[in-house]
Order: sequence, then structure tokens, then C-alpha cells
Amino acid sequence: MGILDKHKILEKNATLLLIFSFLVVTIGGMVEIAPLFYLQNTIEKVDGMRPYSPLELTGRDIYIREGCYVCHSQMIRPMRDEVERYGHYSLAAESMYDHPFQWGSKRTGPDLARVGGRYSDDWHVDHLSNPQSVVPESIMPKYAFLKDRMIDAKYIEDRLKTDRMVGVPYTDEMIAQARADFVAQADPESDSEGLLARYPKAQVRNFDGQPGISEMDALIAYLQMLGTLVDFSTFVPDASR
Ligand code: HEC
Repeated sequence: MGILDKHKILEKNATLLLIFSFLVVTIGGMVEIAPLFYLQNTIEKVDGMRPYSPLELTGRDIYIREGCYVCHSQMIRPMRDEVERYGHYSLAAESMYDHPFQWGSKRTGPDLARVGGRYSDDWHVDHLSNPQSVVPESIMPKYAFLKDRMIDAKYIEDRLKTDRMVGVPYTDEMIAQARADFVAQADPESDSEGLLARYPKAQVRNFDGQPGISEMDALIAYLQMLGTLVDFSTFVPDASR
């Protein structure tokens, strides 16, 4: 009896087929899942990744509140057309401090995973206030009101603590200094030494160009940071870690 003939027995007996299917799925499942229990970490460690600064985190919350993810993804897939347009494909580590992640599922607008540094702050202010003023055919809504909404980071310590509860490694010092760091990042005159020690590569500027800290400042601080933390000129994928 050939192997195909033996297989016929399975194909003709529903109960037997079910039992064997179950067996195959169980073995396959174990082979896939079991190794994960023996790995320290399923996310490859990558130099440069750090938790969001208080101002960036606030901007990120505004990004989520305004539903930017409905039209924008933050996940560059390892395909040639994507990599040529947006830059190096996204690494798992790049969203390791994201709660919730912003991979998105729809691209009405471009992917934003590496939009940091691609445009000037002024461009972002103009574009967010009135997208059609810089991209006439844009269908992106206007967010001019963000400039008028001043924020004082009243709950920023609690916000950091909440992220710490779900695993983001904010230190006691980061939480104690959260309010000061928030203010320092939006003020080019400030002493930002502590901020930069806690959050390397944090960009310190008056992002929206007007006095006070607005939601526009926070959102642009977040956008300008996206994709800038990992240095891809020195990054080497390391499967051995
Ligand atoms: C209804 C869909 C939609 C929503 C919602 C939306 N956008 Fe857009 N966005 C677009 C489209 C379409 C473009 C491309 C045209 C343009 O540049 O305006 C775009 C472009 C952009 C760009 C320029 C990207 C590039 O690489 O050129 C940025 C930055 C951006 N959006 C940020 C945001 C932010 C931040 C929010 C939330 C406050 C947001 N968008 C909400 C549709 C949207």
C-alpha cells in the first residue's frame, strides 16, 4: 500500500482526520512556541532606543487623541519600494516602549515612522494648521487649534508612572524631573543638560515659534523624534544576542 493509499484512510474517516489534524497542529504549535520560553527577550536590543521624553510622550498622546493613526502607519515593511521611500525597515525595538503601538492598518497618508528631521518645524506648523497650504491636493484635516491649546503637564509624573507599570523603564529620577524636563525641552534658553542625559538626542527648541508650550509644540517634538533614535549608519542586525 503506497503512502497516498494510506492517506486515503484519513481522508475517508472524518474522526480520524480530525484527530490527526489536531496532532499536527499541536506539534507545530509546540515547535513554534516552546523556544520563546527559553529566550531572555524576543526583541533584539538596539542602541539608541530610549523611553519618550515627557514632551514627546505628551505629543504622542495628542497624536493618538486626534486619531492620526487612522490615516498614518508607523511601520516600514522590509520591501524595496517601502525602504526606498521611507528608509530602513522598522525594527521591533523601535516600538518597544509604545503603549499602544502605532503600527496602524491604513495609509491614507504616508508612513510616519521616520518622518523626524525630514521637514522643518515651520513646515509642520504650516502643514498641521492647514495642510492644503503646503500640499494643495492634501485631504488631511486642519489642526490649527493645537497652537491655541496651552499645556502645563499637570499630570506628567502620573503619566510616566503609568507607562512604568506596563514595563517602560522610567527611573525615579525621570519621574521626579518630568515636569522640569517637559518645560526645558520646549525652551531653547533653558539648561537642558539633565534632560539630554536622561533622554539622549532629545531635540530642544521652541517648536511652534510662539511663546508658551502648546499642544502644537508637543506634537511636533514627537514627530521630529520619530525614527531618529537608532543610528542606521552604524546599526548591524545581530541575531546572536
Ligand atoms: C484623513 C486622513 C488623515 C489624517 C486624520 C491625518 N493625516 Fe496626515 N496626511 C494625510 C495625507 C493624505 C497626507 C499626504 C498629503 C500631505 O502632505 O498633506 C498627510 C501627510 C502628513 C505628513 C507629511 C508626511 C510626509 O512624509 O510627507 C505628516 C507629518 C502628517 N500627515 C501628520 C499628521 C498628524 C500628526 C495627524 C494627526 C494630528 C495627521 N497627519 C492626521 C492624511 C491624514
